[in-house]
Amino acid sequence: MKFFVDTADVNAISDLAATGLIDGVTTNPSLIAKSGRNFFEVIADICSIVPGPVSAEVAATDHETMLAEGRKLATIAANVCVKVPLTIDGLKTCKALSDEGTKVNVTLCFSPAQALLAAKAGATFISPFVGRLDDIGQDGMDLISDTVQIYRNYEHIQTEVLVASIRSVPHLVESARLGADVATLPPDVIKKLFNHPLTDKGLAAFLKDWEATGQSILG
Ligand code: G3P
Repeated sequence: MKFFVDTADVNAISDLAATGLIDGVTTNPSLIAKSGRNFFEVIADICSIVPGPVSAEVAATDHETMLAEGRKLATIAANVCVKVPLTIDGLKTCKALSDEGTKVNVTLCFSPAQALLAAKAGATFISPFVGRLDDIGQDGMDLISDTVQIYRNYEHIQTEVLVASIRSVPHLVESARLGADVATLPPDVIKKLFNHPLTDKGLAAFLKDWEATGQSILG
């Protein structure tokens, strides 16, 4: 499974990229606004930090303008992945950009039918939003299960399932259990993946016992 960071906070991305465990980054207009930075500058910075796909989302809603915006965003860096919403115009734009060889992440996916359309439009990634489905009392994981199963029925579908709107470690673990290709995680959720109280307890006991030996590995 690939791990992407879901943020436009360059400092958070740099810290996590240093682990060597980050395969890409996703942003959206809300995350860009939260960064308080110029869109093109922050995407360029992120692309210089993480060599994997960096999603930068268009702001228009009509196909013609989305296409122009997507083409412009793609010039920022070779690893920019243009993000478009799952609308008719968004999928028309996805088809046009993917036919030109530009990677496209289709976002705001909330149904298996939408996911199937995105694959037909040549999406590089489909972003089903699990947390927002949970928020309205549905089980977001059902969408991941359905999408992974449907895509597996058609060997020509190369679209990767990029689980988004992840709010917890169980969301990540269940996504991996279901066979999703990518998870995009807020920095605070990524940090929770490392933590377990028994790891902390066991390490403390190891260090206490090692100290009692009076030895040093480096001399
Ligand atoms: O990548 C999409 C993600 O940023 C949305 O997350 O928590 O706002 O539903 P959330």
